[in-house]
Amino acid sequence: MENFVFHNPTKIIFGKKTIPLIGAETTAFGTKVLLVYGTGSIKKNGVYGQVMGSLLAAGAEVFEHGGVQSNPVLSHVHSGIEQARRNGCEVICAAGGGSVIDTAKAIAAGVLVNHDVWKFFTGKKSLKQSLPLTCVLTLAASGSEMNSGMVLTRDGTRQKFGFANRHLYPKVAILDPETTYSVPADYTAYGAVDALAHVLEFYCTSQKSAPVQDRLMEGLAMNAMESCLAVLSSPDSYSARSNLMWTATLALNGLTASGLGKVGCPMHLIEHSLSGLLNIPHGAGLAALMPGWLRFFTQHNSVRLAQFGRRVFNLQGNTEKATATAAIASITQWLDDIGAPTHLADLGILQEQFYALAAHAQALARIWRMREYSEEQIRTILELCHPGG
Ligand code: NZQ
Ligand code: ZN
Repeated sequence: MENFVFHNPTKIIFGKKTIPLIGAETTAFGTKVLLVYGTGSIKKNGVYGQVMGSLLAAGAEVFEHGGVQSNPVLSHVHSGIEQARRNGCEVICAAGGGSVIDTAKAIAAGVLVNHDVWKFFTGKKSLKQSLPLTCVLTLAASGSEMNSGMVLTRDGTRQKFGFANRHLYPKVAILDPETTYSVPADYTAYGAVDALAHVLEFYCTSQKSAPVQDRLMEGLAMNAMESCLAVLSSPDSYSARSNLMWTATLALNGLTASGLGKVGCPMHLIEHSLSGLLNIPHGAGLAALMPGWLRFFTQHNSVRLAQFGRRVFNLQGNTEKATATAAIASITQWLDDIGAPTHLADLGILQEQFYALAAHAQALARIWRMREYSEEQIRTILELCHPGG
């Protein structure tokens, strides 16, 4: 195992009827609160009323910044920063999924600097501080509720970049699985795909086997797949909803990668060009890339995926390559079973779009220092994600 520092400062409050705690948890950092939320789901499912009621009961003065779109955009962050500054907000509270929490993180980071928050994403500025952030999670997917990352799309150029910094961890995250009863089947599936992708990328790209992390990741992958199927067949199952929610949080909170040394996230690198340029849901993009990317990866290294196949799916091929290939078939079958895409044509993406997508992804590869991903290499992967690839 490689040396590592694991320091995740986010306080998690998990379970039924926990939303009423958000007021006291938030006002512990200040009473002027910017409440960030999306395009309407929290008003329909009652989360907005619970959050607002709790904040007001705790003595907060609440300023609202709703309307965050899925695949959130920079311009909406800019208006949130203006609003937070105008009203002297001391703390940001997010209620929603990854897009809402990422927008809230970007506002929290942008309020305290006099340059464009986008400069953090392009690596031109380093983040030294941000406003405190609390959140109520409503969608099991991104892991943003307990990690230091944020992902934003720049209007106009449609560059979708991610940035991580220790000042971006939420102070407190409330995870009430009951908030996810209203998540439709497609987004439930996309969320589980996102969690599986977070696990698979680290699992496959780690150079060595690390017993604790491997078992942890195998368990999370199994839970992501099983709990997603359980939610889709019994949408009102609290047990299934809570397993999926906690799995997605643990899949990207820094724990799985600790001790693995250098790991990469090439599927995410390429996916950000799909959701950035074409505005498709993040998890749908990952699903369409997953079998093709795994095929590409196992051309060079089948050992890790073969181990995954043996332990997660109980597969036993004659060779490592055969076991890895069988693992890809099992993952593809699961994607099919949950109604997720399995190749790019399922999303209406044509081969002539591959040049633009590869150029976009390569720009991010430079920033993420994944220079081995040339445009040509990325186009090769995209071809493998095309039917027949
Ligand atoms: O607009 P609202 O009303 O919030 O509706 C959302 C949206 O339409 C809806 N939804 C959320 N909770 C719901 C609900 N609908 C009914 N009931 C509920 N309880 O679901 C739709 C998708 O929401 P969104 O927040 O966009 O999804 P997700 O959580 O998957 O977040 C996606 C964003 O996170 C980024 C992605 O790139 C994408 O931009 N990621 C962030 C990461 C991070 N910060 O660490 C890592 C991830 O890999 C990912 O890249
Ligand atoms: Zn993701």
